[in-house]
Amino acid sequence: MALSSRTQILFSNILKFSSCSQLAASNRSSSWWSHVEMGPPDAILGITEAYKKDTNPKKVNLGAGAYRDDNGKPYVLPSVKAAEQRLLSENLDKEYAGIAGIADFCNAAAKLAFKEDSVVIKDHLNATVQGISGTGSLYIGAAFLSEFLKGTKEVYMPNPTWGNHIPLFRRCGFAIKQYRYYDSKTCGFDFNGALQDIAKIPENSVILLHACAHNPTGVDPKHEQWKEMSKIIKARKIFPFFDMAYQGFASGDCDKDAQAVRMFIEDGHRIALAQSFAKNMGLYGERVGAFTVVCDSKDEAQRVMSQLKIIIRPTYSNPPVHGARIASLVLTDPKLNKQWLQEVKGMADRIIGMRTRLHDGLKKEGSTRNWQHITDQIGMFCFTGLTQDQVEKLTKEFSIYLTKDGRISVAGVSSGNVDYLAHAMHQVTK
Ligand SMILES: Cc1ncc(COP(=O)(O)O)c(C=O)c1O
Repeated sequence: MALSSRTQILFSNILKFSSCSQLAASNRSSSWWSHVEMGPPDAILGITEAYKKDTNPKKVNLGAGAYRDDNGKPYVLPSVKAAEQRLLSENLDKEYAGIAGIADFCNAAAKLAFKEDSVVIKDHLNATVQGISGTGSLYIGAAFLSEFLKGTKEVYMPNPTWGNHIPLFRRCGFAIKQYRYYDSKTCGFDFNGALQDIAKIPENSVILLHACAHNPTGVDPKHEQWKEMSKIIKARKIFPFFDMAYQGFASGDCDKDAQAVRMFIEDGHRIALAQSFAKNMGLYGERVGAFTVVCDSKDEAQRVMSQLKIIIRPTYSNPPVHGARIASLVLTDPKLNKQWLQEVKGMADRIIGMRTRLHDGLKKEGSTRNWQHITDQIGMFCFTGLTQDQVEKLTKEFSIYLTKDGRISVAGVSSGNVDYLAHAMHQVTK
């Protein structure tokens, strides 16, 4: 039966429509990524987003772990600027670095950590490679240990630890375990808990140690406590992996902040070490870091070095040069180095000063709580002891932004907001 021309057009339109919608549906279901679920947003970045949207002129962002000057502005260290200027005037080329990065930088980073007269440096026991800041250095370290440490494939981390440690080691095939670290009753170090847990760690496991300025708690073991920990870690044949993201930033003195690392070496440990120059040189986005394995001999260090390069090569081939050239100059030029050490101290002192002012401000507000931990803790972060409810109130009622665990970045506290912060903290805790 012949169809009228109008009916033919109608049918052909219906066919076109249905094939289009079939196509769309089949496109959805056959898409390569239809099964990919939306991941959770990054906790810290979420805080910054919410802070940016807030129109309260008194708003304060204490979430992000980056140094701010007393005007709340990002700080480029004058020694870093001077080094950069000098490098620019040298008109350097942009050729690739070697797989292990810039050798002068690696040597200088190792000397900063261990000290020039250390057995590590004198006997060439270190296999040191340039890393992509602290995170990338930790990653190369975890990948190396995962492949070569003849052990349990378990890493023991302080509870709590920097959030990124967990997925980083997990991605490298480690089972994540914890040892007690923070005592919420004292807002301090749970020394006995830590020792008890460390005493149960199986031989040939990895223990992750924050060299100084523990993130997120700001709680560091004292010298004698490190000594005890070193003893028990050695006796139990546990492999120490130090994360040193804040050398100089804690006390203002790079030697003092490296005391745990150096003590472990003196005690005969063979350690791994990840270093970051993000905070102490303010080179955040330049991604400058180093990873070191301390070996038994120069020959062993050379073999380890060859394997580190084999890991790096397919990962990112070789590291960026600009930031490492700056760091290298700042570490090796005597005048710039002296200036830098003073600037690091300046940053640490400003943070320490803000801790005191916050502590005193709370007292002035009439708070009867014990806030001693604010000044006892050290480094960029302070675990205030505020509950999640109190944190929510701080944000809702005072536009003060921080992580739910009550951690504040003291680097975000300034002369302009410290009294307001003390007032708000008292209001939500009284
Ligand atoms: C404990 C700890 N380790 C490592 C890092 C690594 O930082 P980056 O990769 O920026 O050097 C950080 C930064 O916040 C940190 O707090």
